[in-house]
Amino acid sequence: MAERLQKLIARAGLASRREAEMWITAGRVLLNGKPAKLGERADLAIDQLEVDGRIIGGAQEKVTVLLNKPRGYVSTLKDPEGRRLVTDLVAAIPQRLFPVGRLDYNTEGLLLLTNDGDLAQQVTHPSHRTDKTYLVKVRGPLSEKMVNRLEHGIQLEDGRTAPAKVENVRTVGSSCWFELTLHEGKNRQVRRMCEALGLTVVRLKRIRLDFLDLGDIATGQYRHLSAAETAKLVNK
Ligand code: URA
Repeated sequence: MAERLQKLIARAGLASRREAEMWITAGRVLLNGKPAKLGERADLAIDQLEVDGRIIGGAQEKVTVLLNKPRGYVSTLKDPEGRRLVTDLVAAIPQRLFPVGRLDYNTEGLLLLTNDGDLAQQVTHPSHRTDKTYLVKVRGPLSEKMVNRLEHGIQLEDGRTAPAKVENVRTVGSSCWFELTLHEGKNRQVRRMCEALGLTVVRLKRIRLDFLDLGDIATGQYRHLSAAETAKLVNK
């Protein structure tokens, strides 16, 4: 079905309709290779729509979303045990997205899903040292000594953890909440660092990844990254 170009651009999460109208007027939008005019319509099953050289609609459109992952979902594309997949939560998106890195089955929070291999590589490659901040709830108190060890490195079976940052430590009843920022991505790293200190993690939520945070996205919901956010991640 043919729809107004500004509606299609807004639905792709690139801009508001008003902004998209301005982009069309400014000549930033091409319809089937020619500068689009305000008022034109397109059917993405037939037409090719391009914004600043980026194709929208169709399987080749690069799409990245920020999901607030609930507990109880696996971040793989298949699960031999038949558990729910994070991709089930973005099933309404026509492109085939894959998770950028992983959150454990019972970890919640910020997870990017994309079909953009370059973006995934930039975010996950260890040399880019992407900061990831986790909100951690542990049973029992977190001593000064434990904070020091978390920050200065803990010997795990696959090597010593790199320096990390502990912030906003709060004791609530018999539990302790804190924020831990890492730039590594070892498997189950936060849980294993806590286990090494004898701490039991009762809740784990990723709340930030580089300059992105969860904002007001409800659990199980997602939003599209803007073109500017995507470019910032790709050009890290
Ligand atoms: N560290 C963990 O232990 N689990 C995650 O899901 C992410 C980081």
